Amino acid sequence: MKGVILAGGTGSRLHPLTRITNKHLLPIYDRPMVNYCIEALVNAEITEIMLVTGGTHAGEFLRLLGNGHEFGIDRLSYGYQERPGGIAEALGLAARFVDGDPVLVMLADNVVERSIRPMVDAFRAEPAGARILLTRVEEDEHLRHLGVPVFDEGRITAIEEKPEAPPSKFGVTGIYCYDSDVFDVIPTLAPSGRGELEITDVNNHYIGEGAMAYDILEGFWGDAGESIDAYYAVNDFVRAHGANKG
Ligand code: DAU
Repeated sequence: MKGVILAGGTGSRLHPLTRITNKHLLPIYDRPMVNYCIEALVNAEITEIMLVTGGTHAGEFLRLLGNGHEFGIDRLSYGYQERPGGIAEALGLAARFVDGDPVLVMLADNVVERSIRPMVDAFRAEPAGARILLTRVEEDEHLRHLGVPVFDEGRITAIEEKPEAPPSKFGVTGIYCYDSDVFDVIPTLAPSGRGELEITDVNNHYIGEGAMAYDILEGFWGDAGESIDAYYAVNDFVRAHGANKG
């Protein structure tokens, strides 16, 4: 299984910090944000990774990560997204790197307390369709900033992106497994209202095909790019409890 880390976008919710660096290079406790994502993948034995970024600070990733060996990566490739055209567009840039293999995609602003290995191993055992990782979220105000699944008898029937009235108490994390068909789905997408190719549209395609599985994450999950308060909440959590544990 290959890994794709998405670290592009504008980081506008963390302005002005993100005028001087890429959001995923901001510190979370004692390391740049992106390092937690790399650790999550390497701990799940995903060691062939492409990092996709964009903007004016892309070169800093090379300085931080080099060829990746120091972090347990066997093969580290880089992709450059010309403009922030959405998560699905960024993933599309990895088509040739992924080259027909199953792929784990992680947004570089997501931080997890516990290992993502159970989900990765489940997809390795059955590497067809898509598999997403959900997290329980109590506050509707938080759910309004996420993708939220609609359930019918335990099956996901749709995902609503940033719903005004959240249809369940689960958020879609930025951690996704896909078979290589994902690269045929992306070119069929139309830009959303915010002018982006949405990963939620990719997921809804798989749901429509009856090819979507899910896991529910245990422990803390944070999107450190959601707001300055979320950024500090993730910092506080990691400082007190660590991340990517067993
Ligand atoms: O974090 C989980 C949420 O991530 C999901 O619940 C949502 O369904 C999903 O759409 C996404 O929502 P966000 O609004 O948080 O996405 P955002 O635009 O902040 O992008 C998240 C990451 O994706 C960002 O840190 C880097 C990467 N990205 C984003 C865009 C728009 C790119 O690499 N390129 C891009 O063009």
